[in-house]
Amino acid sequence: MRVLLAGASGAIGTPLTRQLIAAGHQVVGISRSPANAERLRHAGAEAVVADVLDRENLLAAVRDVRADAVVHELTALGSPKLRDAMRGTNELRTTGTANLLAAARAVGAHRFVTQSIMLGYGYRDHGPRVLTEDDPFGEPVGGMLGSAVAAMRSAEEQTFSADGIAGVALRYGFFYGQDSMTRMIVNLVRKRRLPVPSSAGHTTFIYLEDAAAATVAALEKGRAGQAYNIVDDEPVRWGEYLDTLAAAFGARRPWRVPSWVLRPIPYLHAMMTTSMRVSNAKAKRELGWAPAVPSYREGIPLVARATR
Ligand SMILES: NC(=O)c1ccc[n+]([C@@H]2O[C@H](COP(=O)([O-])OP(=O)(O)OC[C@H]3O[C@@H](n4cnc5c(N)ncnc54)[C@H](OP(=O)(O)O)[C@@H]3O)[C@@H](O)[C@H]2O)c1
Repeated sequence: MRVLLAGASGAIGTPLTRQLIAAGHQVVGISRSPANAERLRHAGAEAVVADVLDRENLLAAVRDVRADAVVHELTALGSPKLRDAMRGTNELRTTGTANLLAAARAVGAHRFVTQSIMLGYGYRDHGPRVLTEDDPFGEPVGGMLGSAVAAMRSAEEQTFSADGIAGVALRYGFFYGQDSMTRMIVNLVRKRRLPVPSSAGHTTFIYLEDAAAATVAALEKGRAGQAYNIVDDEPVRWGEYLDTLAAAFGARRPWRVPSWVLRPIPYLHAMMTTSMRVSNAKAKRELGWAPAVPSYREGIPLVARATR
């Protein structure tokens, strides 16, 4: 397949580009930066320079591109301010998805894979039940997280309802691996600047190489109109994950604090007080995929080895 990949230079885009090429696909990466576009060419991809939020600019940049599929892996998580990161990522899920669907039509693609995140099941305590793709996703909520959840829902709805395009959504767990976000968390843990609420619940991670492998499988085998949870095999409490990370880097155990201490950072508070266990059974069954790194127990030592 010829794949137009938005976010090819990002945390998942980098291993995804490599794995797509290794699987015999051709990649045309989109980046806003000529330097990143050059890096993509070095990695064996073609590249176009465009801002996905600027529809005219995007459509002009892909004028001479033909592709069978488009993959959306965009975020603004790199913005230094959390509020900008959230707002920017929302826009990439709403306007960005609409613009990429227009680009998909322009390049002749009939397949579209969009990113999503398991937090769309709702920022709350889901108890011990394991969530599947049949659980409500993107249900309207009020407050600051309302726009984040609405943007996740918008990305999926646009993808599933696009005429003549087979759309698939991937609800990833939190990424970790050889990326800047993991390095930032390791730094915070080392400096004991990432306290954990004593009541912090369960969450789900996915090792980046596994997330990329699942994305290749979804591109090849995902059914139109379907969402797949892309998470590893073992939900883990935040405290246990961060303790294991600290131990792997020879750092002291993160502080335990009452959850109100994190309230001044509302998004962090919401993430750490949300508790969810998420199933990957559908992705295993339908995509023929399974995580090579089944849990943080195997993944964190890999991160530590690569970072030292
Ligand atoms: N990180 C997580 O834990 C996590 C978990 C679940 C789901 N997800 C989702 O998975 C997707 C990929 O995440 P990631 O962590 O790989 O992201 P990332 O490392 O922050 O990479 C973001 C990518 O988006 C590109 N980009 C941003 N704005 C753009 C724009 N206006 N036009 C064109 N390109 C733009 C950047 O390219 P240039 O800078 O080269 O332009 C970069 O390649 C995201 O949608 C994210 O929400 C992430």
